[in-house]
Amino acid sequence: MTRSGAPRGGRTARRKPHILVLHGPNLNLLGTREPELYGRRTLAEIDAALRARARAAGAELEALQSNHEGVLIDRLHAARGQVDFILLNGAGLTHTSVALRDAVVASEIPTVEVHLSNVHQREDFRQTSLLSGVCVGIISGFGALSYVLALEAALDGLELRR
Ligand code: DQA
Repeated sequence: MTRSGAPRGGRTARRKPHILVLHGPNLNLLGTREPELYGRRTLAEIDAALRARARAAGAELEALQSNHEGVLIDRLHAARGQVDFILLNGAGLTHTSVALRDAVVASEIPTVEVHLSNVHQREDFRQTSLLSGVCVGIISGFGALSYVLALEAALDGLELRR
């Protein structure tokens, strides 16, 4: 840095791409909650694997789980202009929340919808996602691997996939 704070050599200091993972209600119980549907991996294990993959690709990854819709919406608002890609498992809110959908749109950040289970093999009320229409893509049905595949999609979108 020069004393004026500008980067030396005329190059713009470019921060690492920032990926945000948002997990909705009840996903804090992963590992013990309906493991036949959602697997035995804990959320901490999933997040650690995602963080390591993102770091290896040259990105920063932050994960947040909340059981409160407003917390997820507030985080999406704060992400505007700060985050480059979002992986979103809205959990039950996927099927009900106009407000979460609106916040994804307001964020203006490309978002991948993620589900551990194949929601289309399940109850009728899970066949509707209010999020799919505002996400760049959907990955559903691969357990913890769904998040990894979604991260690969994000890295591809950020041109970090090698
Ligand atoms: C889920 C599917 C939702 O229908 C459900 O409410 C969840 C988890 C999934 O990851 O498979 O909580 O999003």
